[in-house]
Amino acid sequence: MRLDKFLTETGNGTRSQIKVYIKKGLVTVNGSVAKDGSVHIDETKDTVCFQNKAVLYQKNRYYMLHKPKGVVCATKDNVSKTVLQLFAPDLQKGLFPVGRLDKDTEGLLFLTTDGDFSHRLMSPKKHVEKTYYFEAEGSLDAEEIKRLEAGIEIAKDEPLTLPARLSDIQQDNTLTKGCLTITEGRFHQVKRMLQAVGCHVVYLKRLSIGQVSLDETLAPGEYRELTEAELHAFNKK
Ligand code: URA
Repeated sequence: MRLDKFLTETGNGTRSQIKVYIKKGLVTVNGSVAKDGSVHIDETKDTVCFQNKAVLYQKNRYYMLHKPKGVVCATKDNVSKTVLQLFAPDLQKGLFPVGRLDKDTEGLLFLTTDGDFSHRLMSPKKHVEKTYYFEAEGSLDAEEIKRLEAGIEIAKDEPLTLPARLSDIQQDNTLTKGCLTITEGRFHQVKRMLQAVGCHVVYLKRLSIGQVSLDETLAPGEYRELTEAELHAFNKK
């Protein structure tokens, strides 16, 4: 396995961070300072040290969680329960949430030990689609739908949102329900986009990230490992 892959897979940083660490001479293989991340090592025999500490080979782990309301997307919090605390204690080490959902948002959340994976999914440059089901007080007309889809101002000092997609819109006297697909992950983005056209979100659930949908057999608070096919969808296999 390549040295840089070994170091990202063992949770020591993203591929670009590893490049810098190697350049700085922080990585040794069998006692010699590594010069290049592309060098091949035998992870079962060679001793790799990062900042003078031996790196044990442990494969990265990837989970999907059906995030319930009321828990925060953090590894530590002094006040609220965290998504990490929903996991069995022996699984928690090295695990972190990929991006954030608000405390009151439910739905699909990935947790992993792989920093590179997280970066690839969350960077707006990668244009990974995230689809949310929402219920909001207020109504949406055709013009507002067009503005939301084209890109809308959600704050004076922020650029317009990137193009988005609305689907399955249903409206009654007071409530608008539907799905919004976006490729960014700005703070409270869905709520703020809908607020910008006068709709106040009262329920929000993430349904999918890229090609991977929430496994509806998972009750809120339950999790499972991502399958090979799901990882394949993100070029991890
Ligand atoms: N947009 C929001 O407003 N909240 C979330 O939790 C996710 C996207």
